[in-house]
Amino acid sequence: MGIRLATTLLLLLFAPACVCAQAPLSQAVATQAPTSPALIPQPRHWQRGEGRFVLDSGVALVVPADTRSREIADFLRRSLADDHGLWLTARGARDARTIELRLDAAVAGEEAYRIEVAPQRIVLSAARPRGLFWAVQSLRQLLPPGRATRIEVPALRIEDAPRYGYRGHMLDVGRHFMPVDFVKKQIDLLSYYKINTFRWHLSEDQGWRIEIKRYPKLTQVGAWRDEQDGSRYGGYYTQAQIREVVEYARQRNIMVIPEIEMPGHASAALAAYPELSCRKQPIAVPASWGVFEDIYCAGDESTFEFLQQVLDEVVALFPAPYVHIGGDEAPKARWKESASSQQRMRELGLKDEDELQAWFVRRIQRYLAGKGKTLIGWDEILDGGLGKDAIVEVWRGDEPAASALRNGNRIVVASPFYLDRALSDLSLEKLYRTDFAAAPAFAEHAAQVLGAEAPLWTERVTPRNAEAMLYPRLLAFAENTWSGVGDYPDFQRRLSQHYPRLDAWRVSYGPEATDVVGYRLERDPAQRVWRVHAQRGFSDLRIHYSTDGREPDATSPWFEDSLEIARPGTLKLTPYRHGRAYARSRAYPLVAHRGLDREVRYSLPAHPRYRGNADTATLSDGVLAGDEHADGRWTAWAGGDVELIVDLGAPTVLRALSARFLQQTQSWILPPRHLQLFTSDDGRRWTPGAELALDVDAAELRQRYHTPRLVLPQPMRARYLRLQIQGYGALPAGHPGAGSPSFYFVDELVIE
Ligand code: ACM
Repeated sequence: MGIRLATTLLLLLFAPACVCAQAPLSQAVATQAPTSPALIPQPRHWQRGEGRFVLDSGVALVVPADTRSREIADFLRRSLADDHGLWLTARGARDARTIELRLDAAVAGEEAYRIEVAPQRIVLSAARPRGLFWAVQSLRQLLPPGRATRIEVPALRIEDAPRYGYRGHMLDVGRHFMPVDFVKKQIDLLSYYKINTFRWHLSEDQGWRIEIKRYPKLTQVGAWRDEQDGSRYGGYYTQAQIREVVEYARQRNIMVIPEIEMPGHASAALAAYPELSCRKQPIAVPASWGVFEDIYCAGDESTFEFLQQVLDEVVALFPAPYVHIGGDEAPKARWKESASSQQRMRELGLKDEDELQAWFVRRIQRYLAGKGKTLIGWDEILDGGLGKDAIVEVWRGDEPAASALRNGNRIVVASPFYLDRALSDLSLEKLYRTDFAAAPAFAEHAAQVLGAEAPLWTERVTPRNAEAMLYPRLLAFAENTWSGVGDYPDFQRRLSQHYPRLDAWRVSYGPEATDVVGYRLERDPAQRVWRVHAQRGFSDLRIHYSTDGREPDATSPWFEDSLEIARPGTLKLTPYRHGRAYARSRAYPLVAHRGLDREVRYSLPAHPRYRGNADTATLSDGVLAGDEHADGRWTAWAGGDVELIVDLGAPTVLRALSARFLQQTQSWILPPRHLQLFTSDDGRRWTPGAELALDVDAAELRQRYHTPRLVLPQPMRARYLRLQIQGYGALPAGHPGAGSPSFYFVDELVIE
């Protein structure tokens, strides 16, 4: 998802956690207005009363007779046991203190509720069970965390209702698979904060995650990929597991909306069934990120037969009245070259491929409508014309939002709430203060604005670091969509009372305004050591490390701010907090060689964005770059040929030089065509040493490294080495950037 690719930058700010102003106690007693209860989201109205209700096992639950109300009462009973170890065992004795659940049509609103806490009873009222359930969640939040057999609840009245009816979180399980237990834990948390929609992004280029009985290869083939490191990665949900999650969510007031991507982001499905693509050629499930040109072929009836049969099984699993069909980032190159697609366009009188996609979407929309489902799609579904009944999920800003609203569509706004954005870039406060409906078009069409969604795309997210991306930002999002933009310091005050709850649930929430950790690794040539600095988002974060290539665990040695390493090896770093890993390990291969710490000069300046940390000679610092081309360790040129000259300081016996080149064809990065090595005693007169032509397959879409080694005919003494690099040149025909210069990315010149 090109424009979302987040560059993770080192973050130098550290925002203090809540430093809440405290009035001196005596004054507080005299003048302080009562503080609002620590509810998130903040309720619309609240008022303190006299006295307190004592909650203990003698309290009886009084519940309406309908099934859902009884289920909600059971949920409350189980939550009190789980949260506090408190079991309500009383059986409704006449004079008992009670918690009463009451369906009361006077509490107007689909999700509205009222809570009245008085010394003898607590009454939770709502017109509908949905509101009643939220009342239970608010009551849970009113109770101080921790185990207790007796809890005093101050008298209070709350009247509450949400501002928006759609408050969603989308989880991408395609890029990285999230196990059922992880998903259920998130549903518990979403529900606790009254986020009422879980959008399950179940199909992606890099993985198809939902069992479809009619098409078993979708999961046999499409759920698995071969990673760059040779490992096999994948996973999927069986239909039984999907049902289990949907039911788990229903009990917790959450609607689950599936997303089955079409026509693009479909590589995994096409790897399973290549006949659904226009080229009908086998492809692999990609193991790299980006936008892929192979999409479902719009010209072939078999495509629709497949999609409809898939959707038949999907709609049977998800009772929600909506199905999300993606629709974003669908390149049209294959449709342009496909005879059947072009034929379809002629038959239908469509003027371009955008109109063909619009026709595709309308066709699926009609099919879903026949099943009683409303189509939702990303805002590209507007291109080429869209029927009013579809719901548009806006991810590209206010302009597509305004066009969808003008077109008469209902919308869900995602653009400002992308949780894959670094914490340092989308801080808790920034998210909290985002008025997503501020543009004038929103006021003119207010009834069409259903609400908002916070997606978590997972190119760089696994179950290990997902919670740090989700929380506490989802709490701010919950309040934003339920209550509107409020008073941030007051939100922080309430939030500080939620951290102990999140800790108790072992939620690995992230910092509020800084990334969990940022590393800076530098070579100190004077001391002949590598030094790693950790910018930590929490003062109690520890960096556990290893140097032997093994994954660090909680028993590995650790440091806080910095560490010096004298010997080569693979340095692996994993941040831990509260005994839990907060991110995948970060690996730095450290190598020693004759060129280490030597000066390298370039005949042509490197690309300003890719020349390493300005203070480090990345080609001779002994640190091998990783698979992120923007990791600050690669040095790159955008076309042209370059000479790299290494001054070894004194005549040295030399045998060979190897260098590393990156290939990321889709990012326009190709290895060079040709390398030639020269030696010299004085840096002026050069002796040819060795040369090598690289075997480059510019159609290779998998990321790979090329590590050519140029060997001198015999060992020789020289002070200078010169590596002459001839770039690949223009991107070849068939590449989206055909004709433009390719980049080459080089790292460490390893000299033997
Ligand atoms: C998207 O982020 N491509 C919807």
